[in-house]
Amino acid sequence: MVESKFSKVDFSRYFQPPSLKAARRRRREKVHIINDFSIPDEMKGIGRNKKYLIETYGCQMNEHDTEVMAGILQEMGYSETAEIAEADVILINTCAIRENAENKVFGHIGYLKPLKRENPGLIIGVCGCMAQEETVVNRILHKYPQVDLIFGTHNIHRLPQLLQEALFSKEMVVEVWSKEGDIIENLPQARKGHFQAWVNIMYGCDKFCTYCIVPYTRGKERSRRPEEIIEEVRDLARQGYKEVTLLGQNVNAYGKDLKDLDHYGLGNLMDEIRKIGIPRVRFMTSHPKDFDDHLIEVLGKGGNLCEHIHLPVQSGNSDILKIMGRGYTRERYLDLFYKIKKAVPGASFTTDIIVGFPNETEAQFEDTLSLVRTCRFDGAYTFIYSPRAGTPAARMKDNIPMEVKKERLQRLNKLVNQLAEESNAKYQDQVVEVLVEGTSRKNADMLTGHTRTNKVVNFSGPESLIGQLVQVKVTETKMWSLDGEWQREPEVSQS
Ligand code: SAH
Ligand code: SF4
Ligand code: F3S
Repeated sequence: MVESKFSKVDFSRYFQPPSLKAARRRRREKVHIINDFSIPDEMKGIGRNKKYLIETYGCQMNEHDTEVMAGILQEMGYSETAEIAEADVILINTCAIRENAENKVFGHIGYLKPLKRENPGLIIGVCGCMAQEETVVNRILHKYPQVDLIFGTHNIHRLPQLLQEALFSKEMVVEVWSKEGDIIENLPQARKGHFQAWVNIMYGCDKFCTYCIVPYTRGKERSRRPEEIIEEVRDLARQGYKEVTLLGQNVNAYGKDLKDLDHYGLGNLMDEIRKIGIPRVRFMTSHPKDFDDHLIEVLGKGGNLCEHIHLPVQSGNSDILKIMGRGYTRERYLDLFYKIKKAVPGASFTTDIIVGFPNETEAQFEDTLSLVRTCRFDGAYTFIYSPRAGTPAARMKDNIPMEVKKERLQRLNKLVNQLAEESNAKYQDQVVEVLVEGTSRKNADMLTGHTRTNKVVNFSGPESLIGQLVQVKVTETKMWSLDGEWQREPEVSQS
């Protein structure tokens, strides 16, 4: 598929409406692994003395895609700026998960319009998950002429060519691929962190939960080869990184598409990464359906595998789970939860929950409350269901008024907050290991970091501790954080 200008856009070539049938077909398509990324000669150095700014919405996948785009721009000579007025290229990496996420982006694009008047050479690009939606692209084409470039999630590697077109074209450049791309292994990455890193282990999602847009915006599940992932983690360890987070929309499906490997799954991968000399390894996001016994057994070995499991449940009612297409019941979720809890002592658990799914009754919502009470989650991301055009749930009639949904969300949040506070209270007087990430946003005199169980800890200490693993004694516990005292290592006497 090739690029096209506004005047030439043939939407039928770029967008396929979300379809479960097409999804089943796409699973069989072969994925090619490619190592041929390079900056075209005419684009080398084009960014010299120029600046870029990338604004990122959405999940960790998007955060990491931003690191890749930053890497590509830096290879073209651009340098980063935090000042929007200074930027020569602004990319908006968008999220389509809920309507309010999209509205925020549209508001922001509107706000960028005057910048274009001041700097006519400015390139404004919209990319990420929203760019994969036909309705969004149409709206930008017709209402936001300040945008110069639109590209999707499957063709980030073409940024140099797209930027070249945008720079030399008077029309909006649109290139969105409806078919997922191959896996490109040699893309540059300008990582934001110096001691924490994201590592993609797979792309896309084939779960097709009935409410979710991700399988359409990110394409089918494609796993990276284990040897590529292991080499990347080894390399990060050599560079002194202290923590890696393995990323995928449904990491538990890792390896299913690697047909030449005999049942190689996330458990096998984690078992190999466990042996690499990097102090902390995390992974997200888990899907309960594919969370297998081998992975649980490997997690139980501890070591650098952190005791924090993000296990989205979405609902505590089996009928709603069925209509959501989640592939597990309340009972199976609870069985899995207890199995992991038993195998990984001291583990913290967080989850995602949707309230107000079409026609969810009060009794069904109360099943969610009771599941949350049973699991006593350390934290939960809670959302009101947002219909996403093209998904099966968006076609369902919904008889639940928004006020009822809002009221349920409040009740759920109250419970979630109370349990978070109670789970933090258990840390009182404990000494915990903290990876020091920087100074606290609220108080520059304080340092901040996370425990292995992903609790935020604030404490005072010298800035030289940033990037180190230190011991902190918890002196006060709050709802969403812990305060503590740094436990200075005893000085080693020199004799
Ligand atoms: N792959 C992950 C979730 C990715 S999206 C998983 O399966 O768990 C992050 C969260 O956004 C989801 O867990 C879900 O709780 C929420 N979400 C997704 N689509 C939504 C929608 N249409 N309305 C409201 N919340 C949604
Ligand atoms: Fe969306 Fe479900 Fe895939 Fe998660 S598993 S990204 S909720 S379709
Ligand atoms: Fe949003 Fe796309 Fe992530 S829709 S949540 S940015 S995969």
